[in-house]
Amino acid sequence: EKQGFRHFMLKEIYEQPNVIRTCLDAYLNPHWHPQDNSEVSPINLGLSEAMLGNVENVQILACGTSWHSSLLGKYLIEQLAGIPTMVQYASEFRYAPSPITPNTLSIGVTQSGETADTLAALETEKQRRIALDSKYRPRILGVTNRPESTLAHMVDEIINTQAGIEIGVAATKSFTAQVMGFYLLALELAYRRQSLSLEQIETIINGLRHLPRQMELVLEKQEPIIEELAHEFNDTQDFIFLGRGVNFPIALEGALKLKEISYIHAEGYPAGEMKHGPIALLDAKVPVVAIAMPGIVYDKVISNAQEAKARDARLIGVTVIDDLDASHTFNDILTVPRVDEILSPMLAVIPLQLLAYHIAARRGLDVDQPRNLAKSVTVE
Ligand code: F6R
Repeated sequence: EKQGFRHFMLKEIYEQPNVIRTCLDAYLNPHWHPQDNSEVSPINLGLSEAMLGNVENVQILACGTSWHSSLLGKYLIEQLAGIPTMVQYASEFRYAPSPITPNTLSIGVTQSGETADTLAALETEKQRRIALDSKYRPRILGVTNRPESTLAHMVDEIINTQAGIEIGVAATKSFTAQVMGFYLLALELAYRRQSLSLEQIETIINGLRHLPRQMELVLEKQEPIIEELAHEFNDTQDFIFLGRGVNFPIALEGALKLKEISYIHAEGYPAGEMKHGPIALLDAKVPVVAIAMPGIVYDKVISNAQEAKARDARLIGVTVIDDLDASHTFNDILTVPRVDEILSPMLAVIPLQLLAYHIAARRGLDVDQPRNLAKSVTVE
């Protein structure tokens, strides 16, 4: 059932374009057009007015990779819909829940729908709302890949991320599907609040529709290059991943993928934070992966990467195909098609998944079942 792939993880990385197609088919309103003037939303997540009306702020609770997709969700909900959003580790939330108002939307994000910390945090949230007063109406949303899970029964409504069963312990397609859920949710909120014009919404939707084909191009073109590059890190013990803005969570995700399956120590940082301490770690033995996608933080990421290069670090850039600045800055370049910055995480994450995969596979490790890890963590 690996369909010719060596590991489930690689198969699941390759399934991502079709997962995104499935989400687009399920949740975009095919008949919507910005000139329609109808009252119909372009997004069709099936969520109620009680859930999404008058949201004042959002709190998102998750663990691990789902916490990373939640950080992207925060970026999207704040930048597209203008709603203040915070993200908490579920395991931290329980004993120090942030204050809420009656119009706080709480979101629990869990691929499996069975993660004990996330379920416990949501139970805390549920009990707190009951104890407060009836104004705190049902406002708990789940984002999960398992519509039959414990989470799904616990929350008021869900977004089903529709990635299909994921067998590899390292989350890949379930991550991009969760991020897709956040694009759709942020657009739905932006539509309701009119924080974006209908034309702006249409532009982002058109960009989303192009993603599956662009993801296929990244897989086709980059996998051979990355497999080759993976040979260079036989003795590497530490990696640094840098990203900024919308791609900061992708730096964290790239580092987590690498550490969990290759057992190489890796850290993700917001690129601008390097000089505040971590730069002391750098030398010729520590490769630095920088995500440098054209957009508002691009120049800053390039100059942060150059600071790393000045410390003899081997610099690997994830950037766009026709980027000249990058070709001068980086020792190795992993390219993706040029897209609007806000959509770039969906492409930038793929080379990082492949890099983690090939480094681990080359070391002969059990990629699908890394040591000490389980697919769903059902203890707190
Ligand atoms: C990383 C990974 C874990 C999970 C985390 C949460 O690849 O798989 O970090 O993301 O245990 O799991 P879910 O999303 O099922 O709650």
